[in-house]
Amino acid sequence: MMISQQDYIEYPLFLKYLIHTQPKRTFPAVGYRVRFVYRQIPKNIVKNEGKRIEGGKMKFPKYRPRRLRKDDLFRRMIRETHLRPDDLILPLFVRPGKGSKQPISSMPGHSQLSIDLLIKEVKDARSLGIPGVILFGIPEKKDEMGSEAYAEDGIIQKAIRQIKEKVEGILVITDVCLCEYTSHGHCGVVEGGRILNDETLDLLARQALSHVRAGADIVAPSDMMDGRVGAIRKILDENQFEDIPILAYSAKYASSFYGPFRVAAESKPQFGDRKSYQMDPANGDEALREVRLDLEEGADMVMVKPALPYLDIICRVKQTFNIPVAAYNVSGEYAIVKAASQLGWVDGEQVMMESLISIKRAGADLILTYFAKEAAKKLQSH
Ligand code: PBG
Repeated sequence: MMISQQDYIEYPLFLKYLIHTQPKRTFPAVGYRVRFVYRQIPKNIVKNEGKRIEGGKMKFPKYRPRRLRKDDLFRRMIRETHLRPDDLILPLFVRPGKGSKQPISSMPGHSQLSIDLLIKEVKDARSLGIPGVILFGIPEKKDEMGSEAYAEDGIIQKAIRQIKEKVEGILVITDVCLCEYTSHGHCGVVEGGRILNDETLDLLARQALSHVRAGADIVAPSDMMDGRVGAIRKILDENQFEDIPILAYSAKYASSFYGPFRVAAESKPQFGDRKSYQMDPANGDEALREVRLDLEEGADMVMVKPALPYLDIICRVKQTFNIPVAAYNVSGEYAIVKAASQLGWVDGEQVMMESLISIKRAGADLILTYFAKEAAKKLQSH
């Protein structure tokens, strides 16, 4: 049986209180019945939640949490969550040309890179112990149908081939989406101001297949069209790529935290916004439905995006489905920390480490983050 967090929360609080404390006295006539019900509550819920809250032993002055916080040795010994370079994925932006590096002003330390310089960056990431990079492309030219997204010699396809030829021991993940390649900047085919769903699926499937043909290890659809995971799984299987996993951006919110990325990837929508396909930040249950759908369509890993404002979603997804969960610590989250740090208002390095460990503690197995290299360096020096 799968136990979700909701099962626990929906359990009536007053009843929980009574049966956890004194069932016989509270309900003399039905005491046994209540105790029977009590036994039916899955053990781990009782252990992890109930007792911890009601438990008589865990009371001051008998119980003093500070005993185990005394110094760094104690804290290391009882630490519950650990961050490793293995948990991090580095996003990179690829542009046409040679020897070309275009710094992204709102994302200090990051640039659009031509393929030759990108290779060096990928090697750096590998030497820091980072297991994968995710690529975003800035095409030579954009058009209505985003045709460079699925062209055999598109910027991403070329970049993948080069990386695979020159660097070993690091996974190449690709973002599958049309917005960087379309003239209107939307993630799907546009007709009469609407973003068409089913008409977009074929293009996304072709894009994913072209990435895999070029050598991509994992494809990550981020467009939020309904049915795209199924369409991608089908085309990959039909072309004997049944062993290539899909990392689905399942719970991707219509977020203002993507601002710096859209400048970096030159992918700002030219009209309207993305609210008709990306999720409403107010919704949590819907994220679980999105994840369920993607898993049924064949996703191997799912993603929650952004990360820090959506830690509750990361937690619910992990607890409900118990599958590999990625979280995208997006451009705006990065920019905010960098800006405040440059102003001297926060300690940027500490805020970075605290943010990453929090995302992991919430339930993420993988974190896509612009901090990847910086954090990996810090972890290595420990
Ligand atoms: C869409 C895509 C976006 C991001 C990753 N993939 C932008 C969007 O949906 O507008 C945002 C990542 C970030 O902000 O760091 N291809």
